[in-house]
Amino acid sequence: MQVKLNVIVGAIVTMAAFAVSAQDAVVKIGHVAPMSGPQAHYGKDNENGARMAVDDLNAKGVMIDGKKVKLELMAEDDAADPKQGTAVATKLCDAKVNGVVGHLNSGTTIPASKVYNGCGLPMVTGAATNPTLTQQGFKNVFRIIANDNALGAGLALHAANNLKLKKVAIIDDRTAYGQGIAEVFKKTAQARGMEVVAEEYTNDKATDFMAILTAIKGKNPDAIFFGGMDTQGGPMLRQMEQLGMNNVKYFGGDGICTVKLAENAGGAKTLANVICAQGGASIDKMPGGKAWKARYDAKFPGQFQVYSPYTYDAVGLIVDAMQRAKSSDPKVYGPALFTADYKGVTSVIQFEGDGELKNPAMTLYVYKDGKLAPLN
Ligand code: ALA
Repeated sequence: MQVKLNVIVGAIVTMAAFAVSAQDAVVKIGHVAPMSGPQAHYGKDNENGARMAVDDLNAKGVMIDGKKVKLELMAEDDAADPKQGTAVATKLCDAKVNGVVGHLNSGTTIPASKVYNGCGLPMVTGAATNPTLTQQGFKNVFRIIANDNALGAGLALHAANNLKLKKVAIIDDRTAYGQGIAEVFKKTAQARGMEVVAEEYTNDKATDFMAILTAIKGKNPDAIFFGGMDTQGGPMLRQMEQLGMNNVKYFGGDGICTVKLAENAGGAKTLANVICAQGGASIDKMPGGKAWKARYDAKFPGQFQVYSPYTYDAVGLIVDAMQRAKSSDPKVYGPALFTADYKGVTSVIQFEGDGELKNPAMTLYVYKDGKLAPLN
């Protein structure tokens, strides 16, 4: 009897599920970020933001052209690797997803954008900041965060004008992001009269920076600018402490401006010398920041890094364009992204003709008691 009842209940549940999925068209949103390897913490945070948006929208109910749709997230891993980035982009094109949120690293996003352009798929990144991304003449590429021209220059102006620093050493990780932001910093710093006393290079897998730091120490700089991610930034701060470089300021962009940098620095006092920049308002100053962050932390405890509010907004922004265009067909709703006026958690999102965010904000941060604290 018990078995029979289970079968009947099972059949009813299956029928009910079928009825729902038969009614609601599925709109697939691809999300790509590093979900494996040393940058997985950034990727997890980004994916959480996109997932939260999908859950919120499905709970509210999404109508496109008078029909109820169900959003599905197709979450992929590019491992911060450019080759894997293009492979995943091809996979999302083939899967005929309706839109893409991502990627996270400029080094994967720029080559992937070419693939999405080829298959006519709109992509919105809330994390990749290299300016080149939107300079390719594509009509499918959108960025909802400030780019490295703003971040690199903002940091250099702070170093020269406010802190009156004279000598800086520059390290980059040779990725599209690290190299790009280091070049912008260097140009602005030099234009403001700062001297670049050393330029050294590493990569996004390295853990030992003693040789380059020792070479830099010999040049006695006031500051180091590092173009790269917290995976290298944290150990570098530890090794600076070991070398007694305790009075050297440490500048970097959004790649190091994370919760995880403090953990990766493993208690090094040099963390207090960090000045980093993120391409947006601080959470407290975002239109819906505080309430959103409380909900995020409840749903994904201890996983917040930097970009999840942006990946959250990217999903909403894409769905908003679909609703205004009355279609989830990428070719139909894609152009509607250019006319967005979307009230997101991070800001009111409108675009320039090249797909860059209009009027992006930027925030400088320091670490106080091991925690990110905005300066502006
Ligand atoms: N902003 C970083 C990049 O562009 C994550 O790679």
